[in-house]
Amino acid sequence: MTNPRISPALDEQARAILTGNDRGGYTVPTDGLYPYQWNWDSAFAAWGFATFDLDRAWTELDTLFSAQWADGMVPHIIFHKPDPGYFPGPDVWGTGQSPETSGISQPPVAATMARLIFEMDAEAGRDRLAALYPRMLAWHRWWRDQRCGSGVVAITHPWESGRDNCPDWDIGMANVDGSNVGEYTRRDTGHVDASMRPGKADYDRYIAMVQFGRDCGWDQSEIVANGPFLMADPGITFILLRAHDDLAALGRALGHDVSEVEGWAADLRAAVPSIWNAETRGFDARDLKTGRFSGRIGSAAFLAYLANVESPELDARMTELWDAVRYGFPSADPASEEFDPRRYWRGPSWPVVNALMAIGLTDRGRHAAAERLRRETAELIEAHGFFEYFDPIDGTPCGGDAFTWTAAIWLTWAGAAGDAKGGA
Ligand code: GLC
Repeated sequence: MTNPRISPALDEQARAILTGNDRGGYTVPTDGLYPYQWNWDSAFAAWGFATFDLDRAWTELDTLFSAQWADGMVPHIIFHKPDPGYFPGPDVWGTGQSPETSGISQPPVAATMARLIFEMDAEAGRDRLAALYPRMLAWHRWWRDQRCGSGVVAITHPWESGRDNCPDWDIGMANVDGSNVGEYTRRDTGHVDASMRPGKADYDRYIAMVQFGRDCGWDQSEIVANGPFLMADPGITFILLRAHDDLAALGRALGHDVSEVEGWAADLRAAVPSIWNAETRGFDARDLKTGRFSGRIGSAAFLAYLANVESPELDARMTELWDAVRYGFPSADPASEEFDPRRYWRGPSWPVVNALMAIGLTDRGRHAAAERLRRETAELIEAHGFFEYFDPIDGTPCGGDAFTWTAAIWLTWAGAAGDAKGGA
């Protein structure tokens, strides 16, 4: 179904960004700042490609899964070609994989994106999906086996959440010793303004966690049991719950028995109440080493809608956070003292998270809220272009420009008036 497009000129620019960031079978998030293949960025890129090149869309996912580890993990970065402009590179991670990769994962949106792509043309996509399905299944099993020991999804590094420096992780980060990581040179602050990036103390801790993983040979059980950081992530919990359902739907379409996936989804759903914090009235991250809640509510809490989880309290909280800003959903609570409208995941509005939230809201029949989110996100892109993220109060564009996933969600969702699922 074709939706009315807001601006053919912006459509053209968005397609040019996707093809311009294409490095041959995979897409970089943006030139310079992020010169490799990133896991969830790539899944969104695939969705964007699907609006004009279905074959290329499936290839993006194939390339992502071609770096899958033997244990099923799909890594968060794949270092296809060396690039000295990025830190920490493959030598720091030291995973010994081929192609070289990082040693953690990232939000498993691939099955959800694969379903959206498959539904655009099921006949053409059937063989591609059939080849991908066992790999997605193995990845979901990895999440279940390696990250769901406490019920909901745990992360072993803030970067695994995709929301690198959000306030959710502050209490877990406080227990990580970053004082012995040695000298290193960051590359991110050479590409974008340092005031928009995580600070040095945070970065030392990020590197300490990478060094722990490398020193134990990326033994995931050891990292979970004795690593410096382990926190329950509401964001990945809801994303995985949704993705389990989407994977099961894809499996059914292929004629497979999906009872195993349905069982994972049921178990995960049953564990969701353990991250409801009555004090902050929201789904909250939890330090699994101490059991303490982070006490911070951000955009991830509202990915609940994506996983068919809703309640009047959640609706009320959504309105509180959202009405405090002007453009899209804030990544951190504007009423909290940590809120910083331009610092990465500590306040800014991220088009890609807005898109996920809108898919959930639409599926729950909240069309007015979904349309508001789409309109506010579209306004940002129309006024400033395809930036990585934006100040949710005054709309200032931040981070990298010509960003792949921002272009992708324009083509699939933000630029298509009147339907939060978009599609060409
Ligand atoms: C940052 C973001 C992460 C994203 C990556 C590439 O690390 O926090 O979510 O995947 O950049 O865009």
